[in-house]
Amino acid sequence: MALMEWSKDLELGIAEIDAQHRWLVNATNELHEELGKGAPSQSEVSALLAGLATYTINHFVTEELLFERYGYPQAEAHHKEHRHFVRAVKEWEQRHSAGEPLGKEILTFLKEWLRYHILKTDRAYVPFLKQRGVC
Ligand SMILES: [Fe+2]
Ligand SMILES: [Fe+2]
Repeated sequence: MALMEWSKDLELGIAEIDAQHRWLVNATNELHEELGKGAPSQSEVSALLAGLATYTINHFVTEELLFERYGYPQAEAHHKEHRHFVRAVKEWEQRHSAGEPLGKEILTFLKEWLRYHILKTDRAYVPFLKQRGVC
């Protein structure tokens, strides 16, 4: 069973952003699947973490460029959450490459962070961008 199900409440109504969020949910599920195996492939876990880190950075850039273009007033607090997430994923990458087995902790973090961030922090910019004709 997937760790995270995509649900209507996660949809913000901005096609590009929704597609990116779906990708992140899928990547979290793939990591969950790999870590749930009796003997997870270390190279597969490394590749999944690296993919997650890169994709997340690109997704954050997409949002931050929109904030910059339209002068979103909550941009700084939003950036802060993004930076915290990137730092956390990089720390997990380091722990994994140092040989530490990853388990439930990272999955819980990813699931909770993504849900909280999309439902609260990302959802908060939707009315602002809608007023400016972005969606
Ligand atoms: Fe965000
Ligand atoms: Fe987002």
